[in-house]
Amino acid sequence: MTHSGTPPAAEVRPHPAKMAYEVLTAVSMTVGRGSAARAMTDLAALTSADRVVDIGCGPGTAARAAARRCACATGVDPAPMMLRLGRWLTTARHIPNVTFVRGTSEALPLLDASVTVTWAISSVHHWTDRAAGLAEASRVLAPGGRILLAERLVKPRARGHAAHGLTRDQADQLANDLKAAGFGDVHTEVRKARRRTLVIVRGSRPAAG
Ligand SMILES: C[S@@+](CC[C@H](N)C(=O)[O-])C[C@H]1O[C@@H](n2cnc3c(N)ncnc32)[C@H](O)[C@@H]1O
Repeated sequence: MTHSGTPPAAEVRPHPAKMAYEVLTAVSMTVGRGSAARAMTDLAALTSADRVVDIGCGPGTAARAAARRCACATGVDPAPMMLRLGRWLTTARHIPNVTFVRGTSEALPLLDASVTVTWAISSVHHWTDRAAGLAEASRVLAPGGRILLAERLVKPRARGHAAHGLTRDQADQLANDLKAAGFGDVHTEVRKARRRTLVIVRGSRPAAG
């Protein structure tokens, strides 16, 4: 693992059909994501002093949006194809202060207290161990840092793709999980991002002292 954007040497190339599927998935995640990214930059009230990590960044739309307003942004994702596309788009758009690193929410490849904002958009429902992910988010946040977890608000009986997100009850559970992980000032809000309705659970790491 490096922080320089170099893929790990042991990365194995998938079967061409699987690779084509991964390319299509990654490209599809560049479409229509701008409004959610802007909602996050607004809600986080980013300043030029902030350092942001986007957990489960996909091809990095929100990391790039953050980088336009903050000191630096890091996109973390377990999927090599997402990271490749993210790096390519970032280079093509000449955005210098974004780095992409392979990792998961459960094992963030970042130093303790190294960022001021952690956020995740449509990735929490993919995390395999939420408690571990929240512990990692807390570890990498500086005291007083903010956490914002956004998911599509879904209906309780939704199935298939329509179920990819959180119901209001599940969002309330996520808020409780944040409190259990030691975050303070936890609250939940609902926001429209073009055609999507997002539920955003946010909080902050208590300031030191
Ligand atoms: C629906 S996509 C969202 C991508 C991006 N945040 C966006 O809104 O466009 C979910 C992302 O979560 C990533 N992911 C899956 N498991 C994860 C984990 N355990 N930790 C962090 N990210 C994960 C996937 O690789 C994928 O890129």
